[in-house]
Amino acid sequence: MLKNKKILVGVSGGIAIYKALDLISRLRKQGAEVRVVMTEHATKFINPTLFREISCNPVAVTLWDEQPEFYAEHIKLAEWADILVVAPATANVVGKMAHGLADDLLSSVALAIPVTKPILLCPAMNSNMYANVAVQDNLDELLVRENYFVVEPAEGVLACGTVGLGRLPEPQELLEHIDATLGEWYGDLVGRHILVTASGTREAIDPVRYIGNKSSGKMGFAVARAALSRGALVTLIAGPTKEVAPVEANVINVQSTQEMYDACLEAYPKVDVVIKAAAVADYAPAKVAKEKIKKNNEKLDLTLKKNPDILKELGRQKKKQILVGFAAETTKVLEYAKKKIKEKNLDFIVANDVSQPGAGFDVNTNIVKLIDKAGKVEELPQLTKDEVAHRILDKVLKIEKQNVSRKK
Ligand code: PMT
Repeated sequence: MLKNKKILVGVSGGIAIYKALDLISRLRKQGAEVRVVMTEHATKFINPTLFREISCNPVAVTLWDEQPEFYAEHIKLAEWADILVVAPATANVVGKMAHGLADDLLSSVALAIPVTKPILLCPAMNSNMYANVAVQDNLDELLVRENYFVVEPAEGVLACGTVGLGRLPEPQELLEHIDATLGEWYGDLVGRHILVTASGTREAIDPVRYIGNKSSGKMGFAVARAALSRGALVTLIAGPTKEVAPVEANVINVQSTQEMYDACLEAYPKVDVVIKAAAVADYAPAKVAKEKIKKNNEKLDLTLKKNPDILKELGRQKKKQILVGFAAETTKVLEYAKKKIKEKNLDFIVANDVSQPGAGFDVNTNIVKLIDKAGKVEELPQLTKDEVAHRILDKVLKIEKQNVSRKK
């Protein structure tokens, strides 16, 4: 969602202003165009030149510029922007926006943003100031308006030495909030609740050992990020992983297949789409040793029992949901994948030959075939997992459209 989006960053005068520079740099790396409006107070902390260099655009500060970039600058900037992000938003700026005051360029731009565009406020201030009834009332007042969104400040040590709520979240988190807000406002998956599973499950052998697999979670997390950026509500059920969870997802961490099974079945009635990228252990030790197994014998036999097939059960209980499975194969990819579509009652399957370089486990790219239940195969080239995720979601939308047309 960030690519080619026009993001107007309003910067007001707080110590957290340094994070705005990093945020702008990250937004530009994602392909967004950024313009900056600073308050006069903000220019006391950082010279506008630095914001101009980072954003690669002129920086607007005052209503009374002798040579403004645009005539009626506050109106033109509001027309230009797809979103206004105020980071950091001081108590003063929040108050002005809540009460419709327009005594400087930033507050005038905010007033000129039409209700058809989102405004995201990222307040950052001392925790007592943030807790003050006046500030809280102002934020409540703004949140009543449909196009206003607020990123809660984080807790921690503040510049004034106080420990509490008031820190501006880290730039990567802010970027994810902006992406999700744009998705919520402009995305083609708004109104859909998508359940994504990611990473591998672990089956305990004893208190310190387990049976697992090489799934890193990259594929499933890419699907979750892509769905959020297109406006979906996302529940992400994840096995152990080093991947960082998207801030806007409802994340449920699990270890074993049984835990993933329970979490999926509980969430299932509430979701519209399931995308099962997780690599689920098909077998688990029949008995889990209570104590660490000692290496006293030359041979150790482990008896395994079959795990429940989560996707098969979801397929059996399917009502309105679009069900998408993955197939990780090393041979006869099409044959095995097609068999899984039938067995698990899927709408389509994402088949990857995990023996191919650049595909499957623990790499940043994948090479997949999307196969629908009529047997039609769409072969994709090697793409990043983020790109694969978007192609999967495009197909979900196509199937949804077909289902709606059939019902008519
Ligand atoms: O996480 P990464 O490192 O990015 O790797 C990505 C991936 C290789 C794990 C991913 O692209 C992938 O192929 N995921 C599916 C792995 C798998 O378990 O495939 P399968 O063919 O064994 O299972 C078929 C489908 O049934 C899968 O959607 C699986 O989630 C599901 N399943 C399998 C067994 C089981 N007991 N319950 C299930 O729900």
